[in-house]
Amino acid sequence: MPVRTIVTLPDPLLRRKSRPVTKFDAQLQTLIDDMIETMRAAPGVGLAAPQVGVSERLIVVEYGDDEDEDIPKKLYVLVNPEIKSFSQETEVGVEGCLSVPGLLGEVERSLAVTIKGLNRHGQPVKIKAQDWLARVFQHEIDHLNGVVFTDRATKVWKPEPDQPMVDNV
Ligand code: NI
Repeated sequence: MPVRTIVTLPDPLLRRKSRPVTKFDAQLQTLIDDMIETMRAAPGVGLAAPQVGVSERLIVVEYGDDEDEDIPKKLYVLVNPEIKSFSQETEVGVEGCLSVPGLLGEVERSLAVTIKGLNRHGQPVKIKAQDWLARVFQHEIDHLNGVVFTDRATKVWKPEPDQPMVDNV
């Protein structure tokens, strides 16, 4: 399972609307495994297929509570994800992106979302996400529509070298 190269701006692929996945074949399974490995190696907590140069609607997210190592990280693989509902309540949070290196930004996002999609075998899944996990899903699904966080950010800055980075997505 090789780590793939992460595409960064201004690559036009990051600005394209990705096409739906239609075949759950061996090639898709390899892509998913490579994306998981690439996300972990980066390291990041989320990755969308366009970030590895594939214009297809597929995301992976791996999220755990940093403050409680007893809670295992949970891995999500979502094919053709769609956000079915957004909470009216929003929150401003700091985001960074593996495809936009060296920048952070403040982005207002819904505090909770309900997502429908398919798992890696093509079976339907539904996820209710809140807080940071909801933010990561919104960020990754934006990638499938050619949107990056700096498009939505109210403030973007270059962090000082001694400033802590946020988890990249
Ligand atoms: Ni990103």
